[in-house]
Order: sequence, then structure tokens, then C-alpha cells
Amino acid sequence: MATINEHYLKLQAGYLFPEIARRVSDYCQSNPNAQVIKMGIGDVTQPLPAAIVSAMHTAIDEMATAETFRGYGPEQGHSFLRDAIRDHCFRNRGIDIDSDEIFVSDGSKCDSGNLLDIFGIENKVAVLDPVYPVYVDTNVMVGRTGAADANGQYSGLVYLPVNAENDFQPALPSEPVDLIYLCYPNNPTGTVATKEMLKTWVDYARKNHSIIFFDAAYEAFVSDPEIPRSIYEVEGAQEVAIELRSFSKNAGFTGIRCAYTVVPKKLMGYLPGGSPQAIHPLWNRRHGTKFNGVSYPVQRGAAASFSPEGKQQIEELIRFYMNNARLLREGLMGAGLQVYGGLNAPYVWLKTPGEISSWDFFDQLLHESQIVGTPGSGFGASGEGYFRLSAFSNLENTQEAIRRIEASLASKT
Ligand code: MLT
Repeated sequence: MATINEHYLKLQAGYLFPEIARRVSDYCQSNPNAQVIKMGIGDVTQPLPAAIVSAMHTAIDEMATAETFRGYGPEQGHSFLRDAIRDHCFRNRGIDIDSDEIFVSDGSKCDSGNLLDIFGIENKVAVLDPVYPVYVDTNVMVGRTGAADANGQYSGLVYLPVNAENDFQPALPSEPVDLIYLCYPNNPTGTVATKEMLKTWVDYARKNHSIIFFDAAYEAFVSDPEIPRSIYEVEGAQEVAIELRSFSKNAGFTGIRCAYTVVPKKLMGYLPGGSPQAIHPLWNRRHGTKFNGVSYPVQRGAAASFSPEGKQQIEELIRFYMNNARLLREGLMGAGLQVYGGLNAPYVWLKTPGEISSWDFFDQLLHESQIVGTPGSGFGASGEGYFRLSAFSNLENTQEAIRRIEASLASKT
């Protein structure tokens, strides 16, 4: 008898974004002429930068002749890419990360779930609430939680609420936790962490022998020089933190797939008796066994994002999306909404008008204004009464969405 992993049966309905897609598809089927503007999932809309396209073309041509053809590459990533990441993302900021501490992969979402393979099931996990749902669901899948309650919160997890009342600053857990997920710039709230705030977490982790999973997928959108782009800007963080980064949002790789995870050699986990065990060889073993590496043309494309032209083209892309974020912030505030985030992040987080629920606001926006956003409650109980809009649209749609929201709110006053 083939039994199943029963923990999957504890998962709530569908994963958030497919559920949104289902509702939008139902709406579009009944309203085939509706001009729906999608600002839900944080998916990029602008084409790949020319420097990246050119590098990928060249790499494909290399694959077309016997002399330059390549088969399997190193599972951890080609050295040309790992060295470029080391130099352009860390050493340039005074962070001493070695190339072999960088593991190239096909996505931060996958890595954040895969990391759980190498940690004991008894670890107590803390997440912010609201939170990127993958952190929670992957812990449910491996069996680290009990069932969900009426609010969708799973027993066994420690939820740290972030909301306007606490200025989106999570309090330290009141009970000891072993694994802590932090995402900054934050998805979904679009808020950022100061260096002092990250230091508080690093100090906590050092004191409690915990490990932080630091998701920095949106670091490229930080323009404030005072805001850290890597947790390793905090002294001692290499002893307690794994950092996840991606080419998805800055270089437009959501469909191309390339990311990387930094596992410092100084990072220690512990055996049940308390003796330290380096995490790096465990992750290296896991990665080499279960992953065959990112394709060569994609890694060449990713490396081209660090060329002078690539950097400049990516800066233009970031400026483009952050201009959308600015327009959204200003437009929605002008329409009388309470708006957060969107200054150093491509997400704008707003309080739903008239205290209506997040899903009711989702339906209202879809049915009355043909705009798709993401209901805050889909990210956790503390997201109830909030709503996320993504700045990854094109300019025309962003302007049109603001116009429609203004008109809809004005019609209700
Ligand atoms: C989001 O909309 O939260 C992200 O696009 C999801 C992701 O990157 O997987």
C-alpha cells in the first residue's frame, strides 16, 4: 500500500497565486471584453535587457558546435557566474563572501523550500505575519506544523505580526525559535529593515544558536543608501544567516529562472547533543545530489547582468518599475487610501477602504474596476484588511489602474 505524505492534506485550499488566477479566469470567461489590469503576482512585464539577450544568444551558438558544446556544468554554478556574484554583489559592498559559498539555482522560491531538507524536524520556526506563503507551506509539507486554525494559522509555527500599529517592525519572538524567515525589502508589505533592526535579529540568532533565512529577492529595488541590501552588512551575520537572492525581479528572469543562495562556511547548525556542524557541506551535498545546475545559456545571461551595459540596462529597468511604485503610492494616497511600502520595494501595501475584508476588496476591484491585486489575508491572518499592488506593470496600465481606483473610490463617497 503506497501511503502519502499526510501533511499535504493540512494545506489550505490552493496556493495563493493559482487561487487568484482561478478567480480572474472565471471573471474573464464571463466578461470576455473586460480590460483586466493584472497587478497581483509580482511578475515582471518588461523584456530582458539587451546585454543579457546577446549573451544568451552567444551561449546558444556555443552549444551549436562540437568545439564549444557543453554538457553538464557544475551543479553549484559555473565559476564565471559565481565569481561575478561574489565581486558585484558582495565584495563591492565590503562583504567577504567566497565564490564557493554561492550556490546558483533555478529560483529562491525553490531554494527556500529545499533548504528544509537539511534541518531537523524539531526546529521551531518563526515567520512574520503577513508572509510570503511559500515559507509557511513548505514547513507544513515537511510536517513541522499541526493543523491550521480558523485564521489559517498553523499550530507549531511562531507568527510575528507586522502591521501599521507596530510600524511593520516585528517584535522578537517571546519563545525561543531555531529558524527565522526574514524577507527584506519585504514581500508583501514593501517595507524595509534598517541595519539596526537586522542587527537585533543577528544578535538574537547568535545568542539562541538560531539560523536566519534572509530572502533578499528584492534588494535591487533599494535606493536609500542607509538601508542594507544584504544581511551580511551586519557584523557576525555570516555565522547565523543564509541569504537567498534572485535574478527574477531585477533582470526580468521570472520566466528564464536563475537565482542563488549564499551559505557561508562559518554558519553552524547543531547536533542533538549540541556540538556544532557546518551547514555548508550539507547544502553542497543536497544541491549536488538533487539538482543538476542551471542551464549554461541562462547562467551566461545572468553573468551579463554584471557587465557595464547589463548593469546600466538593469538600473533603467529598476527605475522604470520604481516610477510605477511612486505613481501608485502617490495616486492611491491622493485618493485617500493609507499606503505603505513602495519606496524601496516594488510592492505597495494599502489598507482596504472602509475596513472591508481583503478578499471583498479583491472582488470589488476585479468586478468594478477590472484590476487584479493580492488580498493581504492571503499572506496571513495579520494581512487581513490590507491589499497588495505590484509595480511590475507597464506605465500605461499603472496610470490606468490609478485612474480607475480613484474613480471607484470617488463614486463611493
Ligand atoms: C509574489 O507575487 O509574491 C511573487 O511574485 C511570488 C514569487 O516570486 O514567487
